[in-house]
Amino acid sequence: MTISSFVPPHRILMGPGPSDIYPQVLQALSRPTIGHLDPLFIGMMDELKALLKYAFQTENEFTIAVSAPGSAGMETCFVNLVEPGDKVIVCRNGVFGERMRENVVRCGGEAIVVDDEWGAPVSVSKVETVMAEHPDAKILAFVHAETSTGAVSDAKALGTLAKQHNMLSIVDAVTSLGGVPLLVDEWQLDAVYSGSQKCLSCVPGLSPVTLSPAAIEVIKSRQAPVQSWFLDQSLVLGYWSGRVSAVITTLRQ
Ligand SMILES: Cc1ncc(COP(=O)(O)O)c(C=O)c1O
Repeated sequence: MTISSFVPPHRILMGPGPSDIYPQVLQALSRPTIGHLDPLFIGMMDELKALLKYAFQTENEFTIAVSAPGSAGMETCFVNLVEPGDKVIVCRNGVFGERMRENVVRCGGEAIVVDDEWGAPVSVSKVETVMAEHPDAKILAFVHAETSTGAVSDAKALGTLAKQHNMLSIVDAVTSLGGVPLLVDEWQLDAVYSGSQKCLSCVPGLSPVTLSPAAIEVIKSRQAPVQSWFLDQSLVLGYWSGRVSAVITTLRQ
């Protein structure tokens, strides 16, 4: 077998992602690797966190890049927030809403599905009716921009509704972050995930995730351990937040 380098042709990517990578990102990828405990690396993480907070328009302390694609961001939100027996209202108006439903079921949760036609945005009034029928639901899950059809839903109205009913929200912003306005704090969204290869024009393989203080509280008070070791954010919390400055202090001594 002959092994040769793969040299892709130049193409202009016009689909919903992956998108063309910004030249500065391509240049940055050719720089040397440093260790993950290098003080410079930790400083870079802090900067990355600040930039992601800006992109998400949030002050959430837990705003990180999960080292895996958007689907891992999705699973991060579901496996950490949904416990067996939890009721989750899932809005389904395309392919990615169905993936949310599947995540709920795999976490042992009960999915209450609110269907809308493919191509239409999520109906806020339908969701409100279903919330009234299921006051014990813990989470509302919806896709901000449903890539399979291009439909953008009213994340502000849905986030507000979730808060009014004392529910958390899980929001898929894989194709919306950087493409259309997404104001995580103003719209009171709790767990939002995205992908690097869409409107952010970076390489695939990273999933920006932000969790509100309310979502963090739910993770901290879980009864059952998170079934995924890799995506268990209680293990990651210390690394990206408080412990990072402790590591820097130790390394500088
Ligand atoms: C709305 C939406 N959610 C989730 C995903 C999954 O992201 P990834 O392919 O990075 O795993 C995609 C990918 O196209 C998407 O468009």
